[in-house]
Amino acid sequence: MSEGKKQATWGGRFSEGPAELMLRIGESVSFDQRLAPFDVQGSQAQAAMLAHVGIITEAERDAIVAGLDAILAEVEAGEFSWDTALEDVHMNIEQALTQRVPAAAKLHTARSRNDQVATDMRLWFRYACGQLDASLAAVLSSLVDLADKTKETIIPGYTHLQRAQPVSMAHHLLAYVEMFQRDRTRVAAVREQANVCPLGSGAIAGTTLPIDREFVALKLGFVDAAGKPRVTQNSMDAVSDRDTFIDFASACATIGAHLSRLSEDFILWSSAEFGFVRLPDAFTTGSSLMPQKKNPDAFELIRGKSARLTGNLQMLLTMVKGLPLTYNRDLQEDKPPVFDSLDQALLMLDSVAACLPGVEVQTKRCAAAVADPALLATDVVDYLVEKAVPFREAHHVVGALVGLSEKLDTPLNELPYDQVAPIHEKLGEDWNVVFDLKRALAAREKPGMPGPKQVEARITYWRDQLKD
Ligand code: ARG
Repeated sequence: MSEGKKQATWGGRFSEGPAELMLRIGESVSFDQRLAPFDVQGSQAQAAMLAHVGIITEAERDAIVAGLDAILAEVEAGEFSWDTALEDVHMNIEQALTQRVPAAAKLHTARSRNDQVATDMRLWFRYACGQLDASLAAVLSSLVDLADKTKETIIPGYTHLQRAQPVSMAHHLLAYVEMFQRDRTRVAAVREQANVCPLGSGAIAGTTLPIDREFVALKLGFVDAAGKPRVTQNSMDAVSDRDTFIDFASACATIGAHLSRLSEDFILWSSAEFGFVRLPDAFTTGSSLMPQKKNPDAFELIRGKSARLTGNLQMLLTMVKGLPLTYNRDLQEDKPPVFDSLDQALLMLDSVAACLPGVEVQTKRCAAAVADPALLATDVVDYLVEKAVPFREAHHVVGALVGLSEKLDTPLNELPYDQVAPIHEKLGEDWNVVFDLKRALAAREKPGMPGPKQVEARITYWRDQLKD
């Protein structure tokens, strides 16, 4: 028997089996076998519905459900033998079931692989979003913990990668907490979008058989907040829609971009030039040639992998853009990018969550970097503005002071008062009180600012949010 003859599910009208290359290009079981738990869940709900409307008997339903449980147990034990000649996870499971349970020949009634795979993937997206949310929450917790330890550590904040104004390291880290919290919202929106049941859409135009779509939806937990079933409203859209794939890949790409920026900060901070932190040995590597090296490989790989996440999104958008309605086989290629996005995003998030607790803050290096009084030049401007000097004029005046400091090669805060006073009448003898980091931060206590009370309040807020 040629391999192709195994193709019992759709082989009826074919006199010749598929070419070896057709099998190779056509199979998806090598990657979609991970849908097995969702495929089994979907098929069990389908069997329950078919019995509910009287298309199969209760005994047939029970045999199908039990047979599927047994197959899933084998899959989970690694004992199920997958056959690429049977193309995909759906036909592998159905074929195995039919060999064991005669009633399984009725399972595919009123169903197509088109609505079946759409259902499996929606179940998978719900699961995947749950996984991502848990890993995002762990990253948030580790960032909040590190923020808590670095409330008193003042570092320069940067714009254009030039020292700008002082902030606590905690405030810097909490910026990422905001980002990852937005990611959680995005992931929750993807889950919500996935949570609608496409089963019953058939191949394209539903079915003439008396199925009960709401029954299946309820069984699979595709329900709204009130527990009402949610079913797709256009069969053609339901079998060809890949928006959830795109939105999922997009959420992962954004997570990747955030992780990549975080990685870049830690790569810089751990360099000899910055020296703000030491990374844990467990998340760095050495050089095969240079014995002194300690390389931030985990963060570099996260930065690199973020490109992969962007690529997966790009692939999906490109794949769907020219497809006529409805299902086209191109769509089988939709799964590797989202599986990869989940796997990589989880690996990246989990690595960050595990690495951050081992980060050691080099407080002396931070203090040295932030000692540059020029970081408080803006506060001198504010000092003048408080004395009713127009902002533009004040900015100009402080520019002159900075110029003087460069000319005299003297730190801004140490300029002799007799040279400062002539620059502007409002520069009182107390002009240099602003050169005090504690004062500078304590003066920034409006919402969102880096004042210590604000930062403390944010830490408390996030701890509370992350409790459950
Ligand atoms: N493995 C297929 C996929 O993932 C299942 C749907 C096949 N549908 C079809 N009409 N050949 O896209």
